[in-house]
Amino acid sequence: MKVSVSPGQLGAEISGLSTSQALTDGELVALTDALLSHRAIVIRDLDEDVGWLRRLGRYFGPLVPHILDQYHHPETDEVSIIARNMNSPASRTTPTPAGSFWHTDLSYKDQPSDAIFLYATHVPLQGGDTLVANLAAAYADLPQSTKAKIKNLTATHRFGWNTGGGTPKLTSAQERAHPEVVHPVVRQHPKTGEKILFVNPGYTMCINELPEVEGNALLGDLFTHSLHEKYQHRHRWEKGMLLGLDNRATMHKAVDDYDEPRRMLRMIVGYTGSG
Ligand code: SIN
Repeated sequence: MKVSVSPGQLGAEISGLSTSQALTDGELVALTDALLSHRAIVIRDLDEDVGWLRRLGRYFGPLVPHILDQYHHPETDEVSIIARNMNSPASRTTPTPAGSFWHTDLSYKDQPSDAIFLYATHVPLQGGDTLVANLAAAYADLPQSTKAKIKNLTATHRFGWNTGGGTPKLTSAQERAHPEVVHPVVRQHPKTGEKILFVNPGYTMCINELPEVEGNALLGDLFTHSLHEKYQHRHRWEKGMLLGLDNRATMHKAVDDYDEPRRMLRMIVGYTGSG
């Protein structure tokens, strides 16, 4: 297995792995190291082998069943199907595609997510990229005055808050299981200790310690800052590609610019704590 990095780019490309061979302990350790160091990892040319993907995902932590249980994979709730323009019951019909808004998975839960893995089984000929923003770099570049201002602030998060038609209406059971939660605006990465700007337009509703108008203005400024092009990476998909993202240090968005079939298998890795 080889880890290749393009200078100045977010992410590392991993070569030399195949679904025809079980991952070794050494490879799994190297994959977790690469995700921590580079925020994103990409592996090409994998077969659609749900068992192999789950073994990889589980090494990073518990695989959390997604809130939208109607899209769980028929074999396991550890994997969700994100499909569009497909002639299948799992194909989404929301006005805009699933995930087509900036978000960090599970920021709407008390214990947010460590990582996400997306595996592409169907890719449009044009479009359907995924954008990734580096929230560690965004925090590091904030002016000292802003760092001081947001240091002790908290924000409330809720699933589906501002998703522009990219999420379906929740059932009452799904809503009951996912109340609003509060997180610090600046989170410390549990593994690297870096400070991360932990707010995202999709799920972050408000700043709790400020009056509404002031808090919303601050959130707007933080979103504009963190979505500057210099913090963004555009991931272009190929069939059989696996993308892993460190959800503790990034947010992402599916680009809504395609009409052809697109289908991903998604695993969300839960919180594993510090250390
Ligand atoms: C997601 O955010 O879960 C999906 C992203 C994508 O489909 O590119």
